[in-house]
Amino acid sequence: MPAAEGMRIPYVNLAAQFAEEREALMALAEDVLGKGMWVGGPEVEIFEKALRRYCEADEAVAVGSGTDALILGLKALDIGAGDEVITPPNSFISSTAAIALVGARPVFADVLDDQNIDPEAVEAAITAKTRAIMPVHLTGRVAEMDAILDIAQRHKVKVIEDAAQSIGSRYDGKRSGTFGDVGCFSAHPLKNLNAAGDAGFVLTGDGEIAERIRRLRNLGLANRDEVVEWAAVSRLDTLQCAILTERLQRLDGVIERRRKNAALYHRLVDRRHVFIPPDRDCEFNTFHTFVIQAERRDALKQHLADRGIGTAIHYPIPIHRQPAAASLGYGKGDFPKAERQVERILSLPIHQFLSQADIEYVAETINGFYR
Ligand SMILES: Cc1ncc(COP(=O)(O)O)c(C=O)c1O
Repeated sequence: MPAAEGMRIPYVNLAAQFAEEREALMALAEDVLGKGMWVGGPEVEIFEKALRRYCEADEAVAVGSGTDALILGLKALDIGAGDEVITPPNSFISSTAAIALVGARPVFADVLDDQNIDPEAVEAAITAKTRAIMPVHLTGRVAEMDAILDIAQRHKVKVIEDAAQSIGSRYDGKRSGTFGDVGCFSAHPLKNLNAAGDAGFVLTGDGEIAERIRRLRNLGLANRDEVVEWAAVSRLDTLQCAILTERLQRLDGVIERRRKNAALYHRLVDRRHVFIPPDRDCEFNTFHTFVIQAERRDALKQHLADRGIGTAIHYPIPIHRQPAAASLGYGKGDFPKAERQVERILSLPIHQFLSQADIEYVAETINGFYR
């Protein structure tokens, strides 16, 4: 994605990423394309092994996208028609879509000030039909997993982590995506670990679940010729696996630069008109996004754009207010926290190619708006 025309500080800058990695990526593309095996092959296993090590997980299965990771994770846990899955209404659409696409019913629970799902609201939403909880580690900040796992245990329901935005994050020292029955990740180009296209993966501590997901990503084939269940195709391309293995080696550096940028924002942005969720002692946040909750958000966004600063809103329409969710029967006012945040959230540029002077300029421009 090219930097936005005329933007002094673009929200993303993938061209800068490619410029930095050009030599390594061109060499591995030449190698993979030259060998003529473009689906499967050792690159897939090498990537999965590197993921297991990095994410401190027993099993990792590479799939076609983060959305597919969620769908296959749910299917591998036999969640489907008649089941309810509790999830927040302020995520990317994929979390809820995956639940609906396996035939289950999405049930929303409101969120905390930090935008992550509220464990008390989760507990209140449990019914006899609840089969699973799907917390989302929004922005790279792990949800309150102690409380969520406790609820899941007491009510004997599964946990599917939507860890799409949180590779490398920790909570109580443990890696994101290793708390639940499955942890589902995206490696979309805009994620901290990004492919050159769509990509995702699932972590699990259960060998049988991993085996099932391997089958579900490959037409339900148990071996070359025998199909044991109906399934589609969601294999991650050989080339994307090779690119991701290469980029995984640089991920800690990417995260370090994002954490530095976040710490600077924390220090420099005047909080009288802006809320920034404070860091918790128990966490290691990787800042996929840096979201502030601001008074007069739309005017602030325009003020920043007029001064060459790109921002984004993740996400402008809560999922229970989407046309696709109409049949679930929710309405305005059902999730007051999430709905109030929608009016105030603004994602600031946080990527690894920003300098200290860039962050100072963004912070000063925000502070100037309220002066
Ligand atoms: C929270 C969340 N869940 C799921 C997804 C879906 O991932 P993908 O776009 O790779 O399908 C994304 C990312 O796009 C996401 O941010």
